[in-house]
Amino acid sequence: MKPNRILLACVAAALLLTNTLTFATARPPYLNRSLPVDRRVDDLMSRMTVDEKVGQLNQLFYFSQFMKPEMMEPGLREGKIGSLLFMTDPATINRFQKIAVEQSRLKIPILFGFDVIHGFHTIFPVPLALASSWDTNLVERVQTVAAREASAAGIRWTFAPMLDIARDPRWGRIVEGAGEDPFLGARIAAAQVRGFQGSDPASPGRLLACMKHFAGYGAAAGGRDYDGAYISDAELYNVYLPPFKAAVDAGVGSAMSAYMDLNDVPATGSAFLLRDVLRTQWGFKGFVVSDANAVGNLVTHGFAEDKSDAAARALTAGVDMEMSLPIDPVSGAYSSSLAKHLQEGRVTKAQLDEAVRRVLEAKFKAGLFENPYADESRVASIHNDPDHRRLARIAAQRSAVLLRNEGNLLPLDTKFSSVAVIGPLADSKRDIRGSWSFADDIKSAVTVLEGIRAKVRPGVKVEYAPGVDIARAYPSIFETFFGRRPAAWGEAQRREEFDKAVALARSSDLIVMVLGQHEEMSGEAASQSSIELPGRQRELLESISALGKPVVLVLINGRPLDISWAVTRVPAILEAWHPGTEGGNAIADLLWGDATPGGKLPVTWPRSAGQIPIYYARNLTQEPETKQGFTSRYWDIPTSPLYPFGYGLSYTTFTYSNLRVSKPTAKLGEPVEVSVDVENTGRRSGEEVAQLYIHQRSGSASRPVRELKGFERVALAPGEKKTVRFTLGKPELTYWSAASKGWVQDPATFDVWVGGDSTATLQTKFQITR
Ligand code: NOJ
Repeated sequence: MKPNRILLACVAAALLLTNTLTFATARPPYLNRSLPVDRRVDDLMSRMTVDEKVGQLNQLFYFSQFMKPEMMEPGLREGKIGSLLFMTDPATINRFQKIAVEQSRLKIPILFGFDVIHGFHTIFPVPLALASSWDTNLVERVQTVAAREASAAGIRWTFAPMLDIARDPRWGRIVEGAGEDPFLGARIAAAQVRGFQGSDPASPGRLLACMKHFAGYGAAAGGRDYDGAYISDAELYNVYLPPFKAAVDAGVGSAMSAYMDLNDVPATGSAFLLRDVLRTQWGFKGFVVSDANAVGNLVTHGFAEDKSDAAARALTAGVDMEMSLPIDPVSGAYSSSLAKHLQEGRVTKAQLDEAVRRVLEAKFKAGLFENPYADESRVASIHNDPDHRRLARIAAQRSAVLLRNEGNLLPLDTKFSSVAVIGPLADSKRDIRGSWSFADDIKSAVTVLEGIRAKVRPGVKVEYAPGVDIARAYPSIFETFFGRRPAAWGEAQRREEFDKAVALARSSDLIVMVLGQHEEMSGEAASQSSIELPGRQRELLESISALGKPVVLVLINGRPLDISWAVTRVPAILEAWHPGTEGGNAIADLLWGDATPGGKLPVTWPRSAGQIPIYYARNLTQEPETKQGFTSRYWDIPTSPLYPFGYGLSYTTFTYSNLRVSKPTAKLGEPVEVSVDVENTGRRSGEEVAQLYIHQRSGSASRPVRELKGFERVALAPGEKKTVRFTLGKPELTYWSAASKGWVQDPATFDVWVGGDSTATLQTKFQITR
C-alpha cells in the first residue's frame, strides 16, 4: 500500500469510529427538540418494531378504584401502551410516565387523557348550561381554567368538546353538548377548542382537545343512548356536522368516533365519516380515537365478524387509536390482531404507519417528549387558585335562564324574614356539580341551601326540608363506580318528610323550591322516556303552591323537563342546570339580585315528551302557519313549545328597533350587513343576547322556517342603547342541498328577524341575485 493510501485508510477508519461513537452516545434525532416534528417522527418510526407501533395505538383505562399499578407496569415497560385514560392522580401518572420514559426501549411518553368536560378540580356549569350563556368568551375562559387544572395533574388530553347536536331531551347526553342549533353549537365548539388548546396545546396549562362523538350520536332513535341514527346527508351536513367542522377549523387536535350506527354503518367503522368527510373534505390533520370499546363493539353491532375483523375494519376506516377496557394490556382488538393482519396483508404497512404517525405527531406537538411529567409541587396551588372559584361563580350566574318572573317577584325583597328551602336537590353537593365531576373535592361544592344561608342578612331564618326523595329506576353505570345513592325512603318516612316540608313552608315568608334531577339522571346511559319531574316533586310543588305564599322554583337538571303545571302557577322559575362548584352561591346571587340573569335557552323546551323531537329550525309545511286551525297540529296540545329556543328573561327589559340591512339587494357571494339598536328600557343594568334569524323564501331545497345566523350578548345600563351588527356572507347563506347533492347558495329573498329569542318579530328582508 502506498503511504498516501495508508493515510487515507487511517482517516476513513477514524471517521467511521467517530461516527459510530457519536451515534451510540448522542441522543437519537427524534429526541432532539430542535428538529421539525416530521423528521422526529420519521426517525422514531424507523426504529420501531411492529409491536411497538401497535402499542402506540393502544389506549387503556386505568381505574385506581379497583386496579393495581402492577397490572399496567409490564405493558408500559414493553411499549405496549400508547395512552392511558381516567387517571387523575399526578403521583400515579408520574410513576407510570417514568416507566415509559426511562424503562421502555424507545422512551416514548404516554399520553394521559381524561374527560375534562366542565372542569376538573373546580367544576363549572355543565356544557348545556355553558351554552345557555351564549357567551363564547366565557366558554373559552372556563375551558382555559379546566385545562390548567387538568394539565397540572399530568393530563395532556381531554375528551372534549362534546359537539353532538341534540334535539331530543329524552337523550341523557343532551346535557353534555350545546343544544339543538348548529350555528350556536359551532361557535361554542370553536371557543372550547381555543380554551383547551390555546394557540398551542404544548404551551403550559393547555391540553390537546378531542371533538366527539363523530358523528350523529345525538340523533339516537327514540332518544335511547347508543341507538342507531338515520340522518340524511342534508341533515348531516346542515345540522349535525357544523360544530365538528368549526372545531377542525379552530385546530382541534383529535377526534373520537361515535358509538352508534349511522345509516346502518357504525361510526367507528365508517370510512365515509372518518376519511371522506374528516380527511378529504375537511383536511383534518389530527388523530382519531375510538370511543371506549367501540372497536370491539363493531362485533356487537352485527357489523364485524369477530374482534380481529373489527380491528382491521376500524383501522382501515380511519380509527387511529383504540380506546378499550382491557383485562390485560394486550386484550384490545388492535393489540391482539393488528400485527397478524399486517403479516397476512389485510392491513398494509402504509395503513398502520399512517395511524402511528398521527399519534406520534400529536405526542411531539403536545410537547410530551420534552415535558412528560406533572409538577406535583404545583398541583395544589393551581387547583386552589381563588380565581378559578370566582370564574365558576360568574359562569354559573351567566348560564342560568330566568323562565318566569310574574309580578317581578325576583330579585327578592329583603323584607322576607324566614325562608324555607325545600326539595331533594336543595342541599345536594353531588347534584349541584353535574355528570362529569370525578376529580373535584365534592365537599367544597356549594349547595343552594348553603348559598342562600351565606346570602341573607343576619337575623333571617333559613330552614331546609327535602320533602321527597328521587331515584332512577335502574342504577347508573357511574353509580356503580363512584358511589351509590342512599337507599330510597320507606313509605312512612315519605309521608313524614312530605308533611314536614309543607309545614315548614306554611311557617315561612318565602319558599325556594329546588327541584329537578340527580346528576346521574342525565349524561351517558341516562336516557328516559318521560321528561316529567321524577318522584313526587310535582305533588310537593302543588301542595306548597296551594299555601298561597311566594314561591320561587329553582331547577337543577341536565335536560328540559315537563314543567307545564308550574309555568302557570309558580310565579318565578329559574333554570340553573347543574351549575357547578359555586352553583349555590351563584343562585343566591341571582335570586337576591347581586347578579342579573341573562342566559337564553340553547334548546326548544317542550310542553311534554309527546312533542319530541321539537326544534325551532323545522321546515314549513304545505299550509300557511297562520291559517285557522293549523296552529294546533296536535289536537290535544298546542304545536308550539313551552319556551322557544333562545328564550330567557332578565330583571330589566329590552327593546329592539331600527333593524336595517346595508343593501336591499346583493349579488351571490357578496355579504349583507345587518344592524339593530338594542335598548335597556328598564331600571336595572342587564345583558341581552341579541339573536339574528333568517329564512330563505325559495331555492333548490326547502329551508327552515328560521335559522340562527348571528348573536351577541350585550351589556346595557338602564336607558343605554347600543347598535349591534351582523354580517350575512356566503358561509351564512350557503347550505347543503339534497336536490343538487352539494353546497349551494341560491339567489332568493331572505327574511331577517332580530330579537331576544327565536320568535322575534322585528323583521326586514334582502334579496340575493345572480
Ligand atoms: C364513553 C363516552 O361515550 C365518551 O364520551 C368518553 O369520552 C369515554 N367513555 C371515556 O370516558
